[in-house]
Amino acid sequence: MKVAIVGCGGISHAHFNSWRRMEDVTIVGVCDVRPECMTEYVNACKAHPYEDCRTMLETEKPDILDICLPTYLHVEYSLMALEMGINVVCEKPISLKREDVARVYGTAKKHNCKFMVAQVLRFWPEFSELKEIIETERYGKLLSGEMHRLGYRPNWSWNGWMTKKELSGMVPYDLHIHDLDWLVYALGAPKSAVRYRTERPDQDFLHAVYDYGDYFIMCDSSWFKGKIPWNSGFRFQFEEAVVINNNGSLAVYDKDGTAQEGVAAADSGVLNLPTTDAYYNELRYFADCVKENRDPDRVKPEELETVIDLLNAF
Ligand SMILES: NC(=O)c1ccc[n+]([C@@H]2O[C@H](COP(=O)([O-])OP(=O)(O)OC[C@H]3O[C@@H](n4cnc5c(N)ncnc54)[C@H](O)[C@@H]3O)[C@@H](O)[C@H]2O)c1
Repeated sequence: MKVAIVGCGGISHAHFNSWRRMEDVTIVGVCDVRPECMTEYVNACKAHPYEDCRTMLETEKPDILDICLPTYLHVEYSLMALEMGINVVCEKPISLKREDVARVYGTAKKHNCKFMVAQVLRFWPEFSELKEIIETERYGKLLSGEMHRLGYRPNWSWNGWMTKKELSGMVPYDLHIHDLDWLVYALGAPKSAVRYRTERPDQDFLHAVYDYGDYFIMCDSSWFKGKIPWNSGFRFQFEEAVVINNNGSLAVYDKDGTAQEGVAAADSGVLNLPTTDAYYNELRYFADCVKENRDPDRVKPEELETVIDLLNAF
């Protein structure tokens, strides 16, 4: 399978490393407006470098375009590739606007292409384990949950796009979207929510409590202005156990102590991210859907719309 990547900044490293691990995939092209960002990739796998995405698509005719561009370019480049009959996997979020979800999925359908937004927590081993624990009631009913993520303000982004609200959506769309998307995927839409947010020029942080009737989930997400180490995790409390995930390690404590620990991790790239195989899992899933002509419905458009509605309430 031929894969091309557009956008060779921070997150592209996790994608590039994942594609390279797949024996049935050849990275035929990489594209970035900054040629220096492509050097490492071109040297590593002989992919052809391009500064213009349309030229890359017309020349290389890839089976899959992997979009790792800034958020505000996701819709435009997805539509471009889909209209050329090319399958697209696109980094999150697809857009800050609900109506774009139907636009992009509609275009994919019209051109008989596969399209998926790379909502990585849906492929994250610790989160998959948690989903199974909830669904099987292995430790009884869920009583409450807490999810958090804290990173430093992404000043490294190209032209500072990430720190401009209209371009990135800031913390709701950079960080909180991960946890909220997983909640909507695993538990459905909450019945109601209470939200707090403080936006300052140099920091942005939010708290939310999502009410599911029988239990509630508390989330916090923030950018700190200094170079703080990445911190993310969750703590879910059940009738018979507490399940804790901290920076990539999972532990289950039942009434007698630690019952189970550890989920495998692998290197995910150069961003300040926890180590995980999740990026590989999501891209492998999409590649298999393309290969086997299956709908990549682990990520559903109606769930993406629900998440955008909830995020736009901040
Ligand atoms: N899933 C995750 O864990 C995760 C983590 C980080 C970022 N992301 C998402 O990935 C996307 C990219 O984020 P990033 O941190 O890599 O940003 P970045 O600014 O580091 O990289 C974006 C790259 O796109 C290039 N670019 C800009 N316009 C272009 C164009 N028209 N054609 C070709 N190249 C162009 C820039 O030169 C830059 O190298 C964002 O939407 C973000 O939300 C996801």
